Amino acid sequence: MTEMLRKIAITALSALVLGSGSAMAAGGTAHIEDVDFSFEGPFGKFDKHQLQRGLQVFTEVCSACHGLKFVPIRTLADEGGPELPEDQVRAYAATLTVIDKETGEERAAVPADKFPANTGAGAPDLSLMAKARAGFHGPYGTGISQLVNGMGGPEYIHAILTGYTGETKTEAGSEFYENHAFSTGWIKMPAPLSDDLVTYADGTKATVDQMSQDVSAFLMWTAEPKLMARKHMGFVAVLFLVALSTLLYLTNKKLWAGVKGKKTA
Ligand code: HEC
Repeated sequence: MTEMLRKIAITALSALVLGSGSAMAAGGTAHIEDVDFSFEGPFGKFDKHQLQRGLQVFTEVCSACHGLKFVPIRTLADEGGPELPEDQVRAYAATLTVIDKETGEERAAVPADKFPANTGAGAPDLSLMAKARAGFHGPYGTGISQLVNGMGGPEYIHAILTGYTGETKTEAGSEFYENHAFSTGWIKMPAPLSDDLVTYADGTKATVDQMSQDVSAFLMWTAEPKLMARKHMGFVAVLFLVALSTLLYLTNKKLWAGVKGKKTA
């Protein structure tokens, strides 16, 4: 019995070590740093205050160019998300303009609508960006690395927002901005953040790094609003499998005990 426990412990440990080791390898040439987000790790949770700050950064800065067309506005009230009170969600919705599906005309949004799309500046929709750019911690393997370190998508967004060098160049009539986190090294998005660009209601200091972390966390939530529920399920499933394996092992031992006999060495 103790021998079995020892084997299980060794297997689990080496899976952890191998899993997190590959995290370093998958970054490619671009420079991306790990961020210790609250929602990472097997028991990680979204921090609703951070999500609310991230929503503010998205609304005041990013939404000028980017849409969030897959995200229903009402989910801002959901448990495990930004958890805004219902009246605030209604008030927030009313500040957004959407195209009515029936009349084809512009009107103020209601919570049942999705966030508006925005393609005017040629910027991609951000609803699923945190998952589309996941993989910093490696999309392959056992998944244990992702469980421990997160998926890497929010780290990527954080790295893009903080990766500007200040250099610009014009090529074929377009302006490009040097950015160490972007695959080609030059991105078409001008650096969107500068210190104190927004004023946080909770008094948090709005540094570029802080705003980048907050909006990245918010975008992780838009891409995977049920992250916490999924982790919880995963954890229950693992416990169940461990219990089942133990029972099977013991049953097997008992069944064959008479046949195999006792080994001496
Ligand atoms: C002035 C317009 C503008 C603003 C404001 C802006 N973006 Fe962008 N963003 C762009 C454009 C244009 C691209 C496409 C860049 C390219 O492909 O070179 C882009 C691309 C991106 C990408 C994708 C990078 C990739 O790997 O393809 C992310 C992530 C992103 N923006 C996040 C943000 C966030 C978060 C904010 C708010 C803090 C923001 N953007 C504000 C215009 C903007």
